[in-house]
Amino acid sequence: MTTDPQDDASTASKASNVVEASNVSADAGPTAASGRGGAGRADPFGWLDGAARARAEAGLTRRTRPRVPDEDLLDMAGNDYLGLTRHPEVTGAAADAARRWGAGSTGSRLVTGDTALHGELEAELAAFYGTEAALVFSSGYAANLGMVTALAGAGAHLVCDRYNHASLIDATRLAKAAGARVSLFDHADAGAALAALGAHPAERRLVVSDTVFSVDGDLTDLPALARVCAEEGAALLLDDAHGLGVVGDGGRGALGAARIPAAERGGIVVTATLSKALGAQGGAVLGPQRVIRHLVETARTFIFDTGLAPAAVAGALAALRVLRAEPERAARLRETARRLAAGLGELGLDVHAPDAAVVSVGAPSPDAAVAWARRCREAGVRVGCFRPPSVPDGRSRLRLTARADLDEVEVKRVLDVVGSTRPT
Ligand SMILES: Cc1ncc(COP(=O)(O)O)c(C=O)c1O
Repeated sequence: MTTDPQDDASTASKASNVVEASNVSADAGPTAASGRGGAGRADPFGWLDGAARARAEAGLTRRTRPRVPDEDLLDMAGNDYLGLTRHPEVTGAAADAARRWGAGSTGSRLVTGDTALHGELEAELAAFYGTEAALVFSSGYAANLGMVTALAGAGAHLVCDRYNHASLIDATRLAKAAGARVSLFDHADAGAALAALGAHPAERRLVVSDTVFSVDGDLTDLPALARVCAEEGAALLLDDAHGLGVVGDGGRGALGAARIPAAERGGIVVTATLSKALGAQGGAVLGPQRVIRHLVETARTFIFDTGLAPAAVAGALAALRVLRAEPERAARLRETARRLAAGLGELGLDVHAPDAAVVSVGAPSPDAAVAWARRCREAGVRVGCFRPPSVPDGRSRLRLTARADLDEVEVKRVLDVVGSTRPT
């Protein structure tokens, strides 16, 4: 466990920035510093060329690559875990909402951006999770920033898992700038979280963790973390982006899966995204009513952000209803993840038994991971590829996401392609 600090936050950021294209450090060192243009005037962006060169030399160049709607690739990189993004009830509800309300929500939810659909989704999400209330944000990222910054504040002590997602890391950086202290604890180690809490007594203490870690797909020890927080009187802030629709009976998320006693739930607040298992877009914070009320009045990413578009709200609501009606989708997804991991293990690849939908396969280097992902794509299978700073140095990997709608033939095809294209 390491305490406080700027440096720790940047170390942690190497571990967990999931959206590959958006997390590149702009600091390129001395070669990037020169900024004189041809006419002798300073070139304000001259340093960018050096930064790009440094990333290229480290094998960390990133490019966007547009999808085509009916491409032939088998998608093992997206987060449409339950196969709902193109479900007719989901797309139909989204289209109806767009026709009724327009393409956007027209303003902050506190001004013009709120519709009855938002309230319906919040009520059904809260009921599904077993929390008192929920609040929908425009993204999971915004939900994490809003939750952490509104509940921390000057003098608070935030105790964070070292491998938290980039959005939680950014949230704690903002909280730190507002006067909170930030400590990191060893990954998924509730004892280390307890030690960190004890090291700096503060009136407001908050433990912050992903439930399912986004790159490796492993779970935190939620029962132990919840116990530590309850005993210490600390709040527990969880990001269940990869738990909703995936873990627990019927995909009810990590809180349900961990069977946290009611007495410990009053101090727990959870975020979820609507953009993964629910196949839509947006995020939500779920927890006690008084926390949600506080967020409505103080969370800057709620107040100063345009409300989630009605089409996304309606799509997520329809997806949630499909999941409730077909709870077996979550179990099928987890079984597919297990079959994939077992098959990759039999091929001698570096893979762990998955706790959720993510199957992470070790690669020898950043360049090898990129080339491996490219060969998979050329052979018809899209896989995710993670390199620093998305993962720590030495832990470059392919990330495959199981889906509930994959059949046996597709699973075999994935195994054949990933195995036959492996680095030699
Ligand atoms: C663990 C985790 N938290 C939060 C987010 C952000 O969610 P969203 O994409 O809805 O902004 C992601 C998405 O990549 C994630 O993986």
